[in-house]
Amino acid sequence: MSMSSTWLITGASRGIGLELVKQLLISPHVVLFATCRDPQSATSLLALGDCNSINGKLYVVRMDVTDEASIISAKDEVAGILQGRGLDYLINNAGVAPQDDRTTTLNTNDLISTVIVNVAGPALVTRTFIPLIEQGDRKVIANVSSALASISTDWGREHTSYSISKYGLNMLTYKLAKERPDLTPFLLDPGWVKTDMGGSNALLEVHESVTGIIQVVRNVTAKDAGRFIDYTGQIVPW
Ligand SMILES: NC(=O)c1ccc[n+]([C@@H]2O[C@H](COP(=O)([O-])OP(=O)(O)OC[C@H]3O[C@@H](n4cnc5c(N)ncnc54)[C@H](OP(=O)(O)O)[C@@H]3O)[C@@H](O)[C@H]2O)c1
Repeated sequence: MSMSSTWLITGASRGIGLELVKQLLISPHVVLFATCRDPQSATSLLALGDCNSINGKLYVVRMDVTDEASIISAKDEVAGILQGRGLDYLINNAGVAPQDDRTTTLNTNDLISTVIVNVAGPALVTRTFIPLIEQGDRKVIANVSSALASISTDWGREHTSYSISKYGLNMLTYKLAKERPDLTPFLLDPGWVKTDMGGSNALLEVHESVTGIIQVVRNVTAKDAGRFIDYTGQIVPW
């Protein structure tokens, strides 16, 4: 077993994904593939390469989670760099949220495009990267969901398309946990976070959420497969 761990994060150009890259790379024992759909315009991510606090190894890889060809090409690129080593952690973080909508007024194009990014995206990324995850020591797949996907929490009528998409992601994760007990797929609720998506009224600074997320992801074990866990380590009711 190698001392370092290998990670792949989707949607690393900004927000929670970018902060995950920043915090993880403080450790020299991390090899990290930060994926984004347009590396040339991901200036904050690219700038990390020259940052003094970065001690781990960073590779920026192009991947649009809605484009199967780009996912396959990213997998080939990552496999070429890993040279037979596996991927310990896959974080399916990329996501979109349309304008707040309600069941009676929603635009089906928004609903469909949200489901494509938030559900079909992680499904395709996971399926494509499973051969590398199987070779990893940890075999952890963290799917970034949302408390809005929890029916028991009863968030009400808002954000219908987004909530449906994250509920779909939850079911996808449950199904994978049942199908592949050799892997540890689980769901993460990052809290309400000040990012472009969360907005400036959100409760958490991005660094607070991400510090918690990293602790949770590093500590999950096989018994957490299929569970819905928030950034503090608490179980979120389904
Ligand atoms: N912020 C919150 O309060 C909150 C709460 C619960 C859950 N979440 C979840 O946390 C995750 C990260 O959210 P965030 O707040 O960091 O959002 P954000 O600031 O809007 O960032 C979203 C990220 O996803 C990427 N992305 C979008 N579509 C993509 C695609 N087709 N292929 C690849 N990357 C794509 C974006 O890339 P570009 O720069 O190329 O657009 C960006 O890097 C999401 O899954 C979100 O649903 C957030």
